[in-house]
Amino acid sequence: MIQFQHTYKTYVGDVCALKDVNLNIDKGEFVFLTGPSGAGKTTLFKLISAFDKATSGSVKVAGYDLNRVKPTEIPYFRRRIGVVYQDFKLLKNRTVFENVAIPLEVLGFKPTVIESRVAEILSRVSLSNKKMSFPEQLSGGEQQRVAIARAVVHQPGVLIADEPTGNLDPTLSEEIMDLLESVNAQGTTVFVATHDHSMVQRRNKRVIEIDGGEVGEA
Ligand SMILES: Nc1ncnc2c1ncn2[C@@H]1O[C@H](COP(=O)(O)OP(=O)(O)OP(=O)(O)O)[C@@H](O)[C@H]1O
Ligand SMILES: [Mg+2]
Repeated sequence: MIQFQHTYKTYVGDVCALKDVNLNIDKGEFVFLTGPSGAGKTTLFKLISAFDKATSGSVKVAGYDLNRVKPTEIPYFRRRIGVVYQDFKLLKNRTVFENVAIPLEVLGFKPTVIESRVAEILSRVSLSNKKMSFPEQLSGGEQQRVAIARAVVHQPGVLIADEPTGNLDPTLSEEIMDLLESVNAQGTTVFVATHDHSMVQRRNKRVIEIDGGEVGEA
């Protein structure tokens, strides 16, 4: 589902953020990515979500060869993935319902379908009663649940989450991790970057470590 082969990423100024990365994540896996600040976690996720391109080597995700994909194919590729960020990235002036509906609107679903799909996913993240609220009226954990709902509402095959619990307290972090595990249990491949070593130890999942742009298996 996610494959890196001899992948390098060098930023302008000769910062080598990824060095000869070789990585294989199969369909349906749940994998943690850990490593210190500046190790290259966000860089790796940007390549997976096609927000940036590798300098050399290959990146293949959900059947797309991202170094060869045409710009016109990128929107089709994006339908296959969902992305969650540390700072939620919700639109402030839109309600919970409207935020979660965005991916379906972009994909051109009918309003009746959008209505029922969003209702279903909000119920799954236990936020049905907040659908008319604005992000500022929610707690951090609730905002992150909205962000996860938005990331999976179009039923992507892959979900990547870049430190999704970085701004949350331990109880809310556990709640978010449970939610990500339930998304995985429904068949979505889930890849989560985190600094939280105790959480990684408790969850007993596959762990990939990155340090100085080099990837190894824990
Ligand atoms: N746009 C950019 N231009 C130049 N250098 C960059 C850019 N983005 C990241 N870097 C550098 O690449 C390296 C990896 O950064 P990256 O953001 O991937 O790390 P990270 O593991 O996500 O760190 P953190 O845990 O702090 O989020 C760092 O040395 C960083 O300074
Ligand atoms: Mg980062």
